[in-house]
Amino acid sequence: MYSRILGTGSYLPERQMDNQELSQMVETSDEWIVSRTGIHSRHIAAEDEAASDLAFKASLKAIENAGIEAADLDLIIVATTTPDLIFPSTACLLQDKLGVRNHGGAFDIQAVCSGFVYALSVADSFIRSGMHRTVLVVGAEVMSRIVDWTDRSNCILFGDGAGAMILQASQQPGIISSRIHADGRYAPQLCVPSGVSRHPERNAKLAMEGSSVFRMAVNTLDEIVDDTLAASGMQKSEIDWLVPHQANIRIIQATAKKLSMSMEQVIVTVATHGNTSAASIPLAFHEGVCDGRIKRGEVVLMEAFGGGFTWGSVLVRY
Ligand code: ACO
Repeated sequence: MYSRILGTGSYLPERQMDNQELSQMVETSDEWIVSRTGIHSRHIAAEDEAASDLAFKASLKAIENAGIEAADLDLIIVATTTPDLIFPSTACLLQDKLGVRNHGGAFDIQAVCSGFVYALSVADSFIRSGMHRTVLVVGAEVMSRIVDWTDRSNCILFGDGAGAMILQASQQPGIISSRIHADGRYAPQLCVPSGVSRHPERNAKLAMEGSSVFRMAVNTLDEIVDDTLAASGMQKSEIDWLVPHQANIRIIQATAKKLSMSMEQVIVTVATHGNTSAASIPLAFHEGVCDGRIKRGEVVLMEAFGGGFTWGSVLVRY
């Protein structure tokens, strides 16, 4: 039994913010941002748009592309770092927006930028165990709400968006292997240091020690590649496409090099999306499917590294 990707969808907020606009807000330049990150612009949600609104629009497209009805969904998982509310979960709010009334499960996953890979891994386990048959997996983020717009080393990186996938139990190949990992010792290097039961008074924003996170990301993604290949028994040369988390073009290039893949085999959206955390992989995957690059039967490696630290990969035959 496999978890097969039936369909994908995505949604990006209308408003785009380019580097020129950012350079009027903090001391930076288009040249610095492009050369260090590969980012030219990012999408920013409207004031009245929350994660569930973005997730809803992406999910409608995925449901349509999968050729199913919302009522067919028996599980909804949303990966998000920027939920609408403390509770109920964004997945429950999304279930209501979609009009799903079959009492299937709905819950959020919090693994920051690795959230979508974590969510796919959990969905795959439910499908393989026979617990659920048709699962909606969404990555949805409004990072603009937790970014410190006065911190030039971080605010240039992030953007908002949502991507969705429908997985269904199938005899035909789908997810081949998935791996998830974490190391909580590194929490202080990448965090939002305020919350619900600790420091609720702070209303803190995202803090990241960029260059040490960068080094860790590159080294860890190297290990992910080896780990994934070992778990699946496949060779590098059997992977057709890399759909990486989109944090920084230099990290993506390093991973492609490790895989001996040319950048033509990598779906890159960081230039126009920035880092949309848990949304970046499904956004990129959908783009690759829509423009005809990722075709049925091809092998795709998705991998991510993010706050926690968390990291992981999913290898899938699309
Ligand atoms: N414009 C101009 N100068 C800047 C800017 C800016 N926007 N930001 C920083 N600088 C300056 C710094 O002050 C520093 O100046 P100094 O040398 O005089 O002190 C210099 O540029 C170099 O700064 P670094 O931070 O060393 O720059 P680096 O090349 O490391 O790039 C970046 C920074 C882009 C943040 C990079 O470190 C990075 O991409 N890190 C990893 C991000 C990541 O993968 N995160 C994980 C996922 S995110 C998540 O889970 C939420």
